[in-house]
Amino acid sequence: MSAETAADQRGQAAATWARRLSRVESRNVTYLAEPPPFWTSASGAEVQDAEGTRYLDLSGAFGVAFAGHAHPLVVERIVEQAGRLVHGMGDVHPPTVKVEFLEALSALLPWESSRAILGLSGADAVEAALKTAQLATGRPGVIAFEGAYHGLTLGALAATGREHFRQSFVERLARHVEFAPFPESELEALGALDQVARLLAGAASVPVGAVLAEPIQGRAGVRIPPPGFLAEVARLARAEGALFIADEVLTGMGRTGALLGCEHEGFRPDLACLGKALGGGVPISACVGPAAVMDAWPRSTGEAIHTSTFLGHPLGCAAGLGFIAALEAEDLVGRARRGGRHALAYLRSALDGCDRVLEVRGRGLLMGIELAADGDSEPAVGVARKALRQGVIVLPAGVRGDVVELAPPATVAASELERGLEEVVAAVRSSVA
Ligand SMILES: Cc1ncc(COP(=O)(O)O)c(C=O)c1O
Repeated sequence: MSAETAADQRGQAAATWARRLSRVESRNVTYLAEPPPFWTSASGAEVQDAEGTRYLDLSGAFGVAFAGHAHPLVVERIVEQAGRLVHGMGDVHPPTVKVEFLEALSALLPWESSRAILGLSGADAVEAALKTAQLATGRPGVIAFEGAYHGLTLGALAATGREHFRQSFVERLARHVEFAPFPESELEALGALDQVARLLAGAASVPVGAVLAEPIQGRAGVRIPPPGFLAEVARLARAEGALFIADEVLTGMGRTGALLGCEHEGFRPDLACLGKALGGGVPISACVGPAAVMDAWPRSTGEAIHTSTFLGHPLGCAAGLGFIAALEAEDLVGRARRGGRHALAYLRSALDGCDRVLEVRGRGLLMGIELAADGDSEPAVGVARKALRQGVIVLPAGVRGDVVELAPPATVAASELERGLEEVVAAVRSSVA
């Protein structure tokens, strides 16, 4: 379909916004060949675009809207905070709301006494965790996993195992990161564990201080490792004096039906990276861990060696407090667990016998439908497009664009979720027929 036809279908408002954007934003950022919906408002699981068209958001907007868009408790806290203090001086004259947010977060975390470094993005949290591990172990080496996505700042990018993001910058990426395969079966796990053990034992080019892993690889296509794999990786890391860092930017704060994705594996990471859902839609992230690990950082003597202008931003902290209040008041973790079970069962039965559906998998409200890819056809891109035309937002994932990723809000009404899943199933069935 030509760009013009696509624009006609989506409407003139999108075409106009796309034209305006193309004149002012760097061309690498937004894909405009087919004008996307330009969002103007969102509430709960519903989004409205500049055309006035309404969509059901089963993507959670990159997994952020776990409590739904503009949750009332989040909005209330932001508005109240904005009336008092919009900006503080994070590490110099800290806003009181930073203290309140850190206390509330710490009370949720699995360690008896935890500490955090706040940031604004998931990548920030990963950068802080990697630095923490180096300080704690004295070793700069990192083991990451093929397919991993940890963000695009240079430290996080060095541990991101996807050529698409790396290739243009490879000369600038630190060479202390080595990759192991990310297994999806027991058999693959054996090879991956061997590789991790070898690297930890000295085969890496520099001594390894951290193993960094997503409990479920989201962007790589909702790839779930076999039970016990991550716990064994963490055990191997600790046995060699390295730390296990869980990148819980997507899986954390309840999305998988547990506060942290690692809980399903029955162990606590040495450090965890949080972001996305944490601020209820406002940018805030955190590298968190037990005091015993985090205290590898020297006490600040006035000029903090790791900080940023907007660290502990009052609006982010207030929104985070609103999110935590919603999480607890509405049992969002339990809702993700129960809602995810039903959704997965429905998708599996509705797509049963569909030839090109290779697998339907998920945990909690993070689900993926893997499609057979013919060459470079990126079948999930076509499915996402079809679903969008029917008013449902899902995103393609996977290195080959072959996984339809779903990460709906935990607050979505069961009837709405059902309706949305039916549209996704119809889009899959008509795409792969
Ligand atoms: C697991 C994981 N880590 C890190 C990031 C990077 O987060 P951000 O885009 O907020 O920097 C993402 C983003 O998708 C992610 O899914």
